[in-house]
Amino acid sequence: VSRRPFIAGNWKMHKTTGEARALASAIVAGLASEGIDVLVAPPYTALTTVADALRGSRVALGAQDVHWERQGAYTGAISVPMLKDAGCTHVIVGHSERRELFGETDEAVARKTRAAIDGGLVPIVCVGETLVEREQARTMEVVEREVERALRALSPAEASAIVLAYEPMWAIGTGCAATPEQAQEVHRAIRRFVARSHGDDVSSALRILYGGSVKPDNMRSLMAQPDVDGALVGGACLEAASFLGIVQASGAA
Ligand code: PGA
Repeated sequence: VSRRPFIAGNWKMHKTTGEARALASAIVAGLASEGIDVLVAPPYTALTTVADALRGSRVALGAQDVHWERQGAYTGAISVPMLKDAGCTHVIVGHSERRELFGETDEAVARKTRAAIDGGLVPIVCVGETLVEREQARTMEVVEREVERALRALSPAEASAIVLAYEPMWAIGTGCAATPEQAQEVHRAIRRFVARSHGDDVSSALRILYGGSVKPDNMRSLMAQPDVDGALVGGACLEAASFLGIVQASGAA
């Protein structure tokens, strides 16, 4: 099976609208590699600006989070129809910062995943263990639980259309990425788990991104792993040169 490489940049809480337009334009101008899906996920306030800057390009637009209700009295929340209206095709769900800093549960992640699919957005569902969980040899248990909860209610067709991101929390923003072998071990385990829960066809079609201190330098060796299909990039996506370097490295594997 050939899975198209996918590189997503999570801008987190960075960039004013002016800065966002400049970065998105620089990415569009510098994008050479064909055959790779590329996405940027700016903060909510910059979505429409970035949508405008991306128009006519093949860079997709995603949001960093979403609420599961379509509308209502949920102060501060943003819904799937609002994201679609702003030009999004994708949304990141269950990022570890949402889970850790904002108390997001597996249940909330599952609801958001469901809402995204029902509303026509592709969810990029994030899973990953803490350092303590890894040291206690609980990585697979934690990751499989998160994958199971997020995918439980999805049909095979729905499950194969989402994107998963394995992001070990000890590797996020630390400069200490998982080794290619560590990433591959977990990606392979996720793929086998999904084969058991949703079947071989879903499992082999499903794209699993790695995230956590991805840089242009380490992308090639990560991408060379058979079950690594791309990256969810944080720090290194905030400048066009390093983000484009990662995109380029992912295509050369
Ligand atoms: P990082 O973040 O690349 O800065 O480690 C990755 C992420 O949180 O998605």
